[in-house]
Amino acid sequence: MADVIIMDHPLIHHKLGIMRRKDTSTKEFRDLVTEVAMLISYEATRNLPLKDIEVETPLTKTIAKEIAGKKLCIVPILRAGLHMADGILNLIPNAKVGHLGLYRNEETLEPVEYFCKLPSDAADREIFVLDPMLATGGSAVVAIDMLKKRGIKKVRFLCLIAAPEGVERLKKAHPDVDIYIGILDERLNEKGYILPGLGDAGDRIYGTK
Ligand code: PRP
Ligand code: URA
Repeated sequence: MADVIIMDHPLIHHKLGIMRRKDTSTKEFRDLVTEVAMLISYEATRNLPLKDIEVETPLTKTIAKEIAGKKLCIVPILRAGLHMADGILNLIPNAKVGHLGLYRNEETLEPVEYFCKLPSDAADREIFVLDPMLATGGSAVVAIDMLKKRGIKKVRFLCLIAAPEGVERLKKAHPDVDIYIGILDERLNEKGYILPGLGDAGDRIYGTK
């Protein structure tokens, strides 16, 4: 069964508190998406396997550690996941990056696919799927379906804010996927928006509304 890790960290509460405010500027909002994604990835990378390597310090030889095997692949869901990718690439610059294009049909709330481009060796890598918002869960479920259809087995899902409804849907559809959440909010409204939430993440990042 999937692990659901809720960060519940003071820095994340503080930064998301600023992001929730309706008068926070586009630039500040975008920068905070990047910062909170970095904080979540710190936890999401906690149990990556390590291997010993010999290094020479200015004083002596010693055994240090490095991440074993192929490095990660991060897969932001367009559009809003892109700025989470920037944050994680600050910490893990060697990660490869794939992109999934999905948007929610605002009538049916069902996701519509429009793009998929992954590194050729994605199936050999651990994949972090990134999207700030886990609302109904439809986009996350379809994104991971798209990856699994292409042979990907190891997936974690990282989001800034989740609704309980979305977490349940994702756990049920993909019980093998661990879910990392900045803050778990209360519920969805009748239009499928997270309450209290922060509004439409893509629009707030790109200033499109
Ligand atoms: C938002 C968000 C998620 C999705 C979450 O994207 O970034 O991808 O909604 O909702 P769900 O859990 O109910 O599927 P949106 O569809 O607004 O697309 P955008 O990023 O292009 O604005
Ligand atoms: N997508 C968003 O960007 N925000 C929500 O609250 C729900 C879906």
